Amino acid sequence: MIKTDVLVIGSGIGALSVASELCKYKRKVTIITKGLRKSCNSSLAQGGISVALSDKDDYHWHYEDTMIAGCNLNDSDAVMKLVSTAPNVIREFIKTGMVFDKDENGNIAFGREGAHRLNRIIHAGGDRTGLRVVEQLLRNVTTDVNIVQNEMALELRVKNGKCSGAITKNLKTGEISHYEADYTVLATGGIGQLYPSTSNDVTITGDGMAMAYRAGCKLKNLEFIQFHPTMLTINGKAYGLVSEAVRGAGGILINDKGEKIMEGIHPQKDLAPRDVVSREVYAHYLKGEKIFLDTSAIDNFREKFPTVTEICEEHGVNVDDKMIPVAPGAHFHMGGVEATPEGITNIDGLYAVGEVACTGVHGANRLASNSLLEGLVFGKLLADYIVNTPRKAEEFDDTIPTETLGDLPTKKEIQHQMMKFLGIVRHTGNIHSIIEWFEQYSPDKKFGKLDIVNTPPEKLEIYNMLTAGWLIAKAAEKRKESIGAHYIVND
Ligand code: SIN
Repeated sequence: MIKTDVLVIGSGIGALSVASELCKYKRKVTIITKGLRKSCNSSLAQGGISVALSDKDDYHWHYEDTMIAGCNLNDSDAVMKLVSTAPNVIREFIKTGMVFDKDENGNIAFGREGAHRLNRIIHAGGDRTGLRVVEQLLRNVTTDVNIVQNEMALELRVKNGKCSGAITKNLKTGEISHYEADYTVLATGGIGQLYPSTSNDVTITGDGMAMAYRAGCKLKNLEFIQFHPTMLTINGKAYGLVSEAVRGAGGILINDKGEKIMEGIHPQKDLAPRDVVSREVYAHYLKGEKIFLDTSAIDNFREKFPTVTEICEEHGVNVDDKMIPVAPGAHFHMGGVEATPEGITNIDGLYAVGEVACTGVHGANRLASNSLLEGLVFGKLLADYIVNTPRKAEEFDDTIPTETLGDLPTKKEIQHQMMKFLGIVRHTGNIHSIIEWFEQYSPDKKFGKLDIVNTPPEKLEIYNMLTAGWLIAKAAEKRKESIGAHYIVND
């Protein structure tokens, strides 16, 4: 048994925000990550952090933009907490040494992204914001934080509605560990790898959501999956994100006839909410048209977008041609484990932060650059809650059940089914068939049923994908009307 005060599962911004705060109070924190310390969506995030810091801005406007993008399905109290707390959290973060990009006068530069009424997005290293934030947070954690790499959480340890840590497996050595933690934090990110085209890291397979389901957590808004309109896409294969900041800087979506595809579709045109732009790009794509991001209006592209330049050039696209081939890909899960802004779930001792959590701030469609913000702000609130709420893990006897898994489909098969039935456009007439497809693999095993210790981790990962996909399908079947990222055709 390994004893730790706080066990954090996942290593993105939410995880590191919690850890960097807690180490100020000398709490012993263990972070486990399936990959390496920087293998997370946060490190890949290009777009920045939206925050009402400019003297031309007001957090009430940030609130309104967030609500409008989320189709008012948002939890308005959670949104208000996020946007009103954000300026101070960012100011404090800057004091720890974080450097955001500056304008020619040496003040923080504010960029534009979809559905924001004004320039509100702060960046670091151009389009390397997520990575720079992760690096700063890693500098901010002390030796009280132990980061264990290549360690997969197999199952939470839950008894009588109380969580006491997790059972994990080292993917290099095969060693099993039983962590006993007073507080267990899920920070595993979303479900991007359930889809064939995604901006997400390869490790993001819905493990947190599946474990939470098995443990009896309440889940919320699972049907809302955001597709990012501009993944670099060549011959139908996606190779990484082309940040929305490119459109914020003047990039325009055109088809192969040179027509501006967002003209007349929405008053904000290329900077309309992401669900609107993705559907439009997808509709053209289905007609067999090729879609490009025309970047001719952007000066110094390489300097402003070093990551996009690197991804493009790695895949034979010369950014000097000013035409980047794009198509939508799965990007962000608005739904997840129901949690308060402080990360509290219905299971005592289990908390959720970042994309795995559904605090309701994103409603039916997340506003651009609100996700790094959520991780930073709500990570801090969770740390404050932990510091002020004494708790001790209960004794727990890890009896490992014996039920094994039968044959499972491949990841590719799951991805194909998800895109076909639960993609950008869904059809009421066929969602039930994907539920039945999932159910042939019994994705509904509850806590204490599955021999997770002797199941190969790659098989457990597939099982987690099946469980997550099945839960999303059931949520999508229930919501009969189109709203935000859940676009459903009744046929
Ligand atoms: C992007 O750079 O376009 C992604 C930003 C976000 O997901 O908010």
